[in-house]
Amino acid sequence: MTEQLFQVNGDIPISKVIEQRRSVRTYSGHPIAPETKEEIRAILEDVTGPFGGKVRCRFLEKKDAFTGERIKLGTYGVILGAPSFLAAAVERGEHAMEQLGYVLERTILRLTALGLGTCWLAGTFRRSAFARALDLRENEILPVVSPVGFASRIRGPVDMLFKPTLARRREPWQSLFFDEDWGRPLDATRAGSFALPLEMVRLAPSASNKQPWRVLKKGNSLLFFLDGSSVYRRLYEFDMQKIDMGIAMLHFEAASREAGLSGHWELPSTEVSAPSSKNGEHIMTWLSE
Ligand SMILES: Cc1cc2nc3c(=O)[nH]c(=O)nc-3n(C[C@H](O)[C@H](O)[C@H](O)COP(=O)(O)O)c2cc1C
Repeated sequence: MTEQLFQVNGDIPISKVIEQRRSVRTYSGHPIAPETKEEIRAILEDVTGPFGGKVRCRFLEKKDAFTGERIKLGTYGVILGAPSFLAAAVERGEHAMEQLGYVLERTILRLTALGLGTCWLAGTFRRSAFARALDLRENEILPVVSPVGFASRIRGPVDMLFKPTLARRREPWQSLFFDEDWGRPLDATRAGSFALPLEMVRLAPSASNKQPWRVLKKGNSLLFFLDGSSVYRRLYEFDMQKIDMGIAMLHFEAASREAGLSGHWELPSTEVSAPSSKNGEHIMTWLSE
């Protein structure tokens, strides 16, 4: 994976873009310039990720795409005034959701760097309409979409439900990151050069802001665990919180590269095995080089 993969809009460090991004649910209606639409389409073509599952993204414009087909790209009133959406499908298979989270978050950060607003939507959209607009294939699943447009200065009624103070709230380090053992919280000082990448994990968006990621540092390896909730598994045909995990992995890797740290992802192995844990499922390990 090259450094290029994480470059967004010239010289803006990706950690700054991560800090800027927030869920935008009310849009201004300001049109997106044709050149920007071209940039968006080019961004959507990069669907590489650390796992095998093939991701397919499409930019869907509300105004012209589906006249005559009676397709209504709706969000049950959660999103107001968005001129367009992006929809992402992934082939069914192992680690498909992590791959989707990773690829789509990179896309979202690149759109953020262009000044565009987005919002991950997994629950509140008309899945069948988007599936038709995307020509969803039999072996694919369509877990998420996002509006794309310019944020309104006025906060709409749904934004009022998602108070910025609550939406932006993140768990403290000691609840998320651990040093050699689950009984020992990791603080930013002891994390050393991993402090920036871990802080970027902490700022990641997650479904209902549940922040299900836990990271155990063992030497120079970081073991990523998913402390998931069974509620989501009952509600959806896919594991929503594995998307959260893919997002966190992208933040970690992008910030590591920004900090000049190299490494790669490996599936859990016995060489760097985790102490048995109530902290969920071991999904991936980052091995420093
Ligand atoms: C996988 C995923 C699914 C989400 N689904 C929805 C959704 O269906 N509706 C919604 O309004 N927000 C949804 N969100 C947005 C989260 O509520 C939001 O990211 C979180 O509250 C943190 O706020 P922030 O994005 O402003 O930092 C989703 C986020 C993720 C990562």
